[in-house]
Amino acid sequence: MKLIFAISIVALSFFGTACRRSVGEMILVPMPQEATFTGGYFETDSARFVERAGDGYVACRIDPSAPEIRPEGYRLKVTRRGIDLTALDSAGLFYGRQTLCLLATAQGIPCVEIIDNPCFGYRGIHLDVSRHFFPVETIFRLLDEMARYKLNKFHFHLADNGGWRIRIDAYPLLTRLGAFRTESDWLEWWSYGDRHYVPEDTPGAYGGYYTKEEIRRIVAYAAERFIEVIPEIEFPGHSDEVFAAYPELCCSGRAYTSGEFCVGNPLSLKFMDEVLTEVLELFPSKYIHIGGDECPTVMWEKCPHCKARMKAEGLRRPRQLQNYATARVEKFLNARGRRLIGWDEILEGDVTPTATIMSWRGAKGGIEAARQGNHAILAPTTNCYLDYYQTRDTAREPLAIGGYLPVEKVYELDPYEQLTPAEQVCILGVQANLWTEYIATWPHAEYMLLPRLSALAEVGWSLDRKDYAGYLHRVRRLARIYDACGYNYARHIFGE
Ligand code: ACM
Ligand code: ZN
Repeated sequence: MKLIFAISIVALSFFGTACRRSVGEMILVPMPQEATFTGGYFETDSARFVERAGDGYVACRIDPSAPEIRPEGYRLKVTRRGIDLTALDSAGLFYGRQTLCLLATAQGIPCVEIIDNPCFGYRGIHLDVSRHFFPVETIFRLLDEMARYKLNKFHFHLADNGGWRIRIDAYPLLTRLGAFRTESDWLEWWSYGDRHYVPEDTPGAYGGYYTKEEIRRIVAYAAERFIEVIPEIEFPGHSDEVFAAYPELCCSGRAYTSGEFCVGNPLSLKFMDEVLTEVLELFPSKYIHIGGDECPTVMWEKCPHCKARMKAEGLRRPRQLQNYATARVEKFLNARGRRLIGWDEILEGDVTPTATIMSWRGAKGGIEAARQGNHAILAPTTNCYLDYYQTRDTAREPLAIGGYLPVEKVYELDPYEQLTPAEQVCILGVQANLWTEYIATWPHAEYMLLPRLSALAEVGWSLDRKDYAGYLHRVRRLARIYDACGYNYARHIFGE
């Protein structure tokens, strides 16, 4: 099958004007598998979209039998006469186009032959919109930036103790009573304040949520960029905001007493089923993230409903209540054709063999998961927590949660470390996480994301050809784009 369609030459020319450089200079991030510059330029001004080759042609085609190309990969040939882009699938054509955008200069597109394939199928970024809410337009900006680096999974952290962020028709009080708070500043509210949520119509209430229409717009915008949006609904911990609206779902039956669902209460399980039913209607993603991190069992140990549930289900330890709840939710998702992802705590106790583990407390969760045959995604704090400081000179940086994660450390991540080839197949890919306790504005988020996100992208796309010195040279092209787009990015590695 042949498919010819238009490449956005307008976009190519836009970035081209920002940049003059010698032919053959490798400036691509993430690094392609193979690239040979052959000399000269294709002049974009003369580009025409044609069925048959002639001077100035741009031809894109899907060819399922193309050798050397894998899903999402592409082959690109730019000559003085024209551009040929071939891929197995539409995602591959899209990524070829992204490469053309980066290659473009004021003189045109340098003549080059590229064969490019991703190393991992999962290349993600997580954004916490609970601790601080970010409106739709900022999410679009993030999705645009993801597309530039060929990232393909947006983990949308929609529910946590900062506020509930998605309209659910069956539980309207979640957004009416659990999405706004008294203080914009996290420390003022969480550490020094009363941690109370306020009704939506309270004067000066701070927070927000996405309507269903807004969620549909985000999912559609992402899909146009071959990005899957993976929603996360935290369960059974980190759910204080839920109990401000529905206190009967926690063990004490009173708001502000704990952040964990009462797993012994059938209404908690019904809540999860009903919320997920609406979530599944909005998000067509293969994966649904159900959280599962940092869930204490103290309340469950004392609660008569939880104790009764343990007895009825033959559970020996309170921790197994979490496994029970997770397995139940997984069954619900699987019956609807979806797959469950949980933070690595879901490995404690008995995890089902079909759950995918997101390893954040170091790589050990990913290693353990892969050794027992579970799929895993690597997002360890040591390399992937973009809410950490970028230099040791923290006094000169915006307040952050702590830690120290320079670009180099992101780049160092090796998701296959300590794994045999048989275990390596269980690693789906990598993800950077942006928690937002201390990130209240989008320019601040950009500062934390850029350029570290590009280093993570290179791990995900180009693990087998990583080269930090080369990356440092190539990433300069991105700095010029950030300048042209007016982004607020961290300049440390650019020597500024
Ligand atoms: C996490 O950082 N608590 C997953
Ligand atoms: Zn309970």
